[in-house]
Amino acid sequence: MSVTSINSSPKITTTTLFEKKQRREPITSLTAYDYPSARLVDEAGIDVILVGDSLAMVMLGYDSTMPVTMDEMLHHVRAVRRGVKHGMLVADMPYGSYQVSHEDGLRNAARFVKEGGVEAVKLEGGEKRVEFIHRLRDAEIPVFGHIGLTPQSVHTMGGYKVQGKTLNAIEQLMRDAVAIDRAGVCGMYLEGIPREVAAMITAEVKAPTIGIGAGPDCDGQVLVIHDILNLTFAPPAKFVRRYGDAAALISDAVKAFKHDVESGAYPADEESYHLPKEARATIETVVERKHAVGSRREVV
Ligand code: KIV
Repeated sequence: MSVTSINSSPKITTTTLFEKKQRREPITSLTAYDYPSARLVDEAGIDVILVGDSLAMVMLGYDSTMPVTMDEMLHHVRAVRRGVKHGMLVADMPYGSYQVSHEDGLRNAARFVKEGGVEAVKLEGGEKRVEFIHRLRDAEIPVFGHIGLTPQSVHTMGGYKVQGKTLNAIEQLMRDAVAIDRAGVCGMYLEGIPREVAAMITAEVKAPTIGIGAGPDCDGQVLVIHDILNLTFAPPAKFVRRYGDAAALISDAVKAFKHDVESGAYPADEESYHLPKEARATIETVVERKHAVGSRREVV
């Protein structure tokens, strides 16, 4: 399908996602953090474009998602907004932006809508977020949940570990999924859980599930764009499939540029601007005269 036909197809909304779940049509989601990646992801026809707080790690070089601030997120969200026309734009609420109070959380979510132009926000947590999800919906802000391996809980989880492996943990995950579903999320991200558990949740809830490291039975799949392009400088997690090698592409291009500049091969004459013919002729005459005067002086 051409870019034009994707962009002329209807805008993806929360309704589209529910319809896709009902029709068992896989939902696609990828992260984007800047204008060029947003354009490419959107023009490829991805349904949900997520400005994830993973940007703390993949764009800003932090070793967890915790340090990224609302202002930093908004800076990226606005760039992505300018590149997205067709997909649904979702912003991750960063750590600290909704845990302190509901008022604080509402103000921050509203900033994403008003200043960033997002169509939904995403937040981590299950049962304990039910009241806040209601408050967001009262404020007309669609919200995605995120349960399982929730990176903002890295310290309480004791590391980035697959969740939902014991009977108790599975029961808690099911309670979390059902609770946020009933609270009215427009979708939920399931991260780092056994595929069997993700399949049970997907069958149980009305909202579309989008998995990352949660197996093939979710209603959709998401990956971090830097992971699929080999731009993370780290060995990939088990669930990551690499679809390209941007690290090699960029590195080869940079080395070739350096080589060409150092060897004088860049820029070539065709890559240079030229004076118009008449101006060139005048300049050449002036230069020739100067040379002639210079050589007479040398003789004297
Ligand atoms: O921050 C992020 O990129 C995410 C996805 C991995 C779901 O939350």
